[in-house]
Amino acid sequence: MAAGKGVLIVPTIEEAANAFNDLAEGTWGSKGQRIVIEEFLQGIECSVFVATDGKDYKILPIAKDYKRVGDGDTGPNTGGMGSVSPVPFVDDAFMKKVTERIVEPTLQGLQKEGISYKGFIFLGLMNVEGNPYVIEYNCRLGDPETEVVMLRIESDFLLLLKSMANGSLKEYQLEEDPRTAVSVMLVSRGYPGSYIKGYEMTLPEPTFETQLFHAGTAITDGKLVTSGGRVLAVSSYGNSLEEALNRSYTVAQQVLFEGKNYRHDIGKDLLLDS
Ligand code: GLY
Repeated sequence: MAAGKGVLIVPTIEEAANAFNDLAEGTWGSKGQRIVIEEFLQGIECSVFVATDGKDYKILPIAKDYKRVGDGDTGPNTGGMGSVSPVPFVDDAFMKKVTERIVEPTLQGLQKEGISYKGFIFLGLMNVEGNPYVIEYNCRLGDPETEVVMLRIESDFLLLLKSMANGSLKEYQLEEDPRTAVSVMLVSRGYPGSYIKGYEMTLPEPTFETQLFHAGTAITDGKLVTSGGRVLAVSSYGNSLEEALNRSYTVAQQVLFEGKNYRHDIGKDLLLDS
């Protein structure tokens, strides 16, 4: 990822003018030759994943991710420090706008351009006073959203993929687990900067309520060791957001390795709404 993807978020006109001048004067080299100015959006982001076979579509469980490394959304962006699904502020009224204003026009646009797209479309959306705005599109699922979305898909995921591939998505019954899922990413100290690999890891006994998704781990000389910046995602179910958070944070403490770091505030901003 190109850290920040070449975007500057500037809250005032004055800072925008300074940023414009810097870009135009070549601070970012040739990237400053074409500058796109967009409206500043104030709101909370959520991630919407659309599965399509090119004709029909299904919307997977909605999720929210946490990108900054530090508590309170501080520090540099990462590949993702945690996620939550469902997202309390995403209600039927919001999703109606998402489908009518974004999902269906997107799929119609692909068809109109003769693009036969079978796969996932990731809509990164900002909720601005109840209205969805597109921040980004990706032709993939999201990480670490997938580590909660997968927990909440009850129906057969392989059949979902087959239905997308063979054009029978209309018949596929997508069933969602009504519980909440929360994922807390355990990372190596120093990440997203430099970090040390190869620390031995100890994992707790598995439970039905929590799944561990290995990202930066390896087996060396028969021992489980860290081998990356984002080491392990601890994903848990709960009958409430609070219960899912408690489970993931309990297991996050039980996973042991030198230099373990994680955010302590995943989902806390959503607790009041849930
Ligand atoms: N979680 C954001 C992404 O996958 O791009």
